Amino acid sequence: MSKPSIFTEAIHAGEEPDPTTKALSTPIYQTSTFVFSNAQEAARIFAGEQEGYVYTRWGNPTLAALEGKMASLEGGQAAIATSSGMAAIATALFSAAKTGDHIVAPRALYGGTHHLFSEELPHLGFKISMVDARDPEEIAEAIRDDTKVIYIETPGNPLLELTDIPAVVEIARRRGLVTIADNTFATPFCQRPLELGVDLVVHSATKYLGGHGDTIAGIIVGLEEIIERARETTLRYLGSVLGPFDAWLILRGMHTLPLRMERHCANALALARFLESLPKVERVYYPGLPSHPQHDLARRQMTAFGGMISFEVRGGVEAGTRLLDGVRLCTLTASLGDVRTLISHPASMTHAANIVPREQRLAAGIRDGLIRLSVGLEDPNDLIEDLERALANL
Ligand SMILES: Cc1ncc(COP(=O)(O)O)c(C=O)c1O
Repeated sequence: MSKPSIFTEAIHAGEEPDPTTKALSTPIYQTSTFVFSNAQEAARIFAGEQEGYVYTRWGNPTLAALEGKMASLEGGQAAIATSSGMAAIATALFSAAKTGDHIVAPRALYGGTHHLFSEELPHLGFKISMVDARDPEEIAEAIRDDTKVIYIETPGNPLLELTDIPAVVEIARRRGLVTIADNTFATPFCQRPLELGVDLVVHSATKYLGGHGDTIAGIIVGLEEIIERARETTLRYLGSVLGPFDAWLILRGMHTLPLRMERHCANALALARFLESLPKVERVYYPGLPSHPQHDLARRQMTAFGGMISFEVRGGVEAGTRLLDGVRLCTLTASLGDVRTLISHPASMTHAANIVPREQRLAAGIRDGLIRLSVGLEDPNDLIEDLERALANL
């Protein structure tokens, strides 16, 4: 049988009727530990001579179903579920690099990851160079003898900047480096970095994978060798494991991931076109618009352009905050990837001065008046009406 489409895999991959009860829905194995039949079995499992669950921090069947589904969807060999997207990023980095190693990362990326690279990792003895990741030459020039990892986030949060994935993979392979890509914005529906040669993909599963804004989770997918090492070392001993109920919520959300993404993408394109036509809007950032400076690259490495849009309104912070207070259907919140349309202001929220210093934020191109829209699944005409009304009052 040929490889099933993502619509089929989202439903079937990683899951089978429960072997003991034949329950159709994957059960929530809400247990911290698993029982051994006798002392010999315990010894064999601990020695790695026999397969078997031991303790949920080491592995759990509900988590295994989620991991199997994500590995299939991303086209990876293996996956591990983590307690948050940040835990996925930290676990992936700690598995690929150690204290003293050098990492190349983008300047424009999610504020929490920016903080991790600019503040926390340097305190732990990692050396970091942050570059303009739109330019593969800048990435290549930042590589040193002690470089171990190239980290990318494409499309990047919140400016929807792209990194040329095949170009980065080629640079990394020439130097034997591990590549890690945050695929949260795109999801495997829009982009599969592993198929383009990346070693590890990380996700905030909190966002589109779960899709309903009801839990925090992360996932790492990629080369089995690195994933299994991470499971047995970093994940097990730093302890950033996901709870079984949260894993089940993500698993359930993922059944409809392709359907939701199809609609997110169509709605985002409709809104991006509408916003671009308005004189009060100075600039719209959406990889699916021909006006996006990297639209050709988007068409080469993405199969669809996602549900995230950013735009700048004329009038800076004041106009931006008036818009946030004027919308009724769009919800003011920091997250993204929900069924509802969510609106946020990076300069005062995800990229506020205590997370990303103002001059670093401006250097990354995130201006005071930038508005981020996570376009939901509502009727696009209702969303357009909501934004039109709020913009008319600026
Ligand atoms: C692109 C991206 N990566 C990672 C994260 C962190 O994920 P979490 O909040 O699940 O830890 C976020 C959160 O907003 C994000 O937008």
